[in-house]
Amino acid sequence: MQVSTRAEAFDRWIRGPFVAINTELEEQYFRQPDRARVEGIGDALKARLRDEGHVHIVGLLEEGNTGDGFRSAFDVLGNVGLYLAALRRHELTNPAREERSPFPEASSLALHVGASLGMAPRFATSHLATHNRAIDGTRKSFTSLRDELLFIDENTRGILALQTAADALTRIVHLGVSNPAADVLFGTAKRALEDVLRFNTRLFESLDVERFFYCVRPYYKPYRVGRLEYRGANAGDFSGINELDLLLGLCRANDPYYTNLLVDKMSFMLPADQARLRECMTFTSLLDELLGSIEHAAAGWFRTNARAFLEVCDLFGQYAAQHHDALVKRFIEEPAARLSPGSQQGLTASGPPLPVLLRSLEVLRDMRMAAPRTDMPSRHDDLQRLRAAVEAS
Ligand code: HEM
Repeated sequence: MQVSTRAEAFDRWIRGPFVAINTELEEQYFRQPDRARVEGIGDALKARLRDEGHVHIVGLLEEGNTGDGFRSAFDVLGNVGLYLAALRRHELTNPAREERSPFPEASSLALHVGASLGMAPRFATSHLATHNRAIDGTRKSFTSLRDELLFIDENTRGILALQTAADALTRIVHLGVSNPAADVLFGTAKRALEDVLRFNTRLFESLDVERFFYCVRPYYKPYRVGRLEYRGANAGDFSGINELDLLLGLCRANDPYYTNLLVDKMSFMLPADQARLRECMTFTSLLDELLGSIEHAAAGWFRTNARAFLEVCDLFGQYAAQHHDALVKRFIEEPAARLSPGSQQGLTASGPPLPVLLRSLEVLRDMRMAAPRTDMPSRHDDLQRLRAAVEAS
């Protein structure tokens, strides 16, 4: 089917003038003594961004066209989402001072397309990562700043590797954990997690803290679409990370804390990811499968596969620690601590105050590391039991 020419024109604008205007605004903010200040700077550019985007949106809304296939509708949703996120970043809208979005046409378009796809009416991580189609080497972004592109590219690589690991573990479910052929899949998962650790180390070492904090992160703030406020996208909005949690058995679908989190993120995922996650919630975890066969600990298959399973768990725990103790700490917690108290609002993608968000991220980290904690569900003792059985055999 033919993609609407209006959708194509909007896409060209997003990839061209939109990026140029955002980049220029970022340079202007960044030159100020107070880099967090946005209001009263670059007003003519902000008005251009708002008005040029509006013309495209009104055209698409009139066309009422969300039916050119998944790809086209998904791209329109992403583009209108990038536009609204930029308006939020430049303080042309702010959910704290409004009861509804001051951009009713963009809201209508996003709500119409989002509902038709079964996704939240805003841009999601997949728009900028796994489904960010490059044209002649250039993928979509808010700006052309080196640090934003680095962030997008390394996030994408990390997500792809986590998906590979999740895919490999899912295949083990169908083979059964005692199947000798599972070794190859544990091997794939292990290499993929080693890749994630490598990409995250590279990101940690090369991303500029100030540029990320002041010029990239603000595009991921929550904003209103119509009346409701939607949280920002984050690199975790794909099913693979939760498939790993559930398949390894480190988090459980019957734990209300964890399942609340899954329900919250469902609509931020691609419909295909939503289906994968739902299916995964019905599987028995590999940890429970292995513990259920612990009386066979001396068997060759058990020693090989349980050992490989434990290696994958250790790598996953290292990834969780790295995300929290290196990336979140260096790029969010530390620069936020240097801000004046008045500037600390609206720092996070999901909306809660930073200390609250950090505590919830810590809980996730500790679940994934199977930390020895008794104030939250942790598989620490179960993993120790498995380790002891493998070592004794
Ligand atoms: C500069 C680098 C990064 C920073 C500062 C960062 C920070 C954060 C923050 C603050 C959140 C919580 C979002 C919110 O609710 O506000 C989050 C979520 C998440 N991020 Fe990152 N992140 C970074 C890179 C990555 C990368 C490269 C990956 C994947 C390879 C990743 C995976 C996740 C996941 C899976 C979540 C959802 C929570 C969870 O399930 O752990 N992040 N990140």
